[in-house]
Amino acid sequence: MHVIAPSILSADFARLGEEVVNVIAAGADWIHFDVMDNHYVPNLTIGPLVCAAIRPLTEAPIDVHLMVRPVDRIVPDFAKAGANIITFHPEASEHVDRTLALIRENGCQSGLVFNPATPLDYMDYVMDKLDIVLLMSVNPGFGGQQFIASTLAKLAAARARIDAYERSSGRRIRLEVDGGVKIDNIAEIARAGADAFVAGSAVFGAGRDSDANRYDTVIAALRAQLGEI
Ligand code: DX5
Ligand code: ZN
Repeated sequence: MHVIAPSILSADFARLGEEVVNVIAAGADWIHFDVMDNHYVPNLTIGPLVCAAIRPLTEAPIDVHLMVRPVDRIVPDFAKAGANIITFHPEASEHVDRTLALIRENGCQSGLVFNPATPLDYMDYVMDKLDIVLLMSVNPGFGGQQFIASTLAKLAAARARIDAYERSSGRRIRLEVDGGVKIDNIAEIARAGADAFVAGSAVFGAGRDSDANRYDTVIAALRAQLGEI
């Protein structure tokens, strides 16, 4: 029920395919795929071509986090490239409801991403179009930043909204957290209500100086912390 989604933003891009295979073999559940456009966020990363290149290497869901503006034009490209989940920032879309519907029409699960200072109100009228809600626990744009503590209270608030919706609709919505998730804070983040955890530097930073088996150790340690809940 807890999902661990390593962000390949912190992987070795010269060996990206190997990194994807190794991290899934080490026990990761999803591949988190950070898309940045040097416009909505001040960094530039990877697009649909790279998604299509890693797609044949794993059956694990690819969780595409769009940090781009505009959003809609690129959605079908990611669906064709094999994305399973597509999330975007509501501030980056002119028509949030339409973008959520577009993601589903393209056969993917859809979700909204909330920056640290973005209110959760964007959820209110689109709960039926959400499969996932992602709370940023850092400002988007870079890996390796410090977890922002106020995210814990915000996770609890999002969890309450999702639980109320689940009770009335019978439909599940995942609550994912992204930024600064480590072995020493994942348990309190889970207690606040998250059930999917993006970890970039915590996972890929660990294996950097040794062999790929190190990913096993980190992922097992993250899961052991979640087992304590
Ligand atoms: C930031 C990205 C995150 C980032 C997480 O904009 O959305 O996914 O890679 O990296 P860590 O786990 O290193 O904070
Ligand atoms: Zn991300």
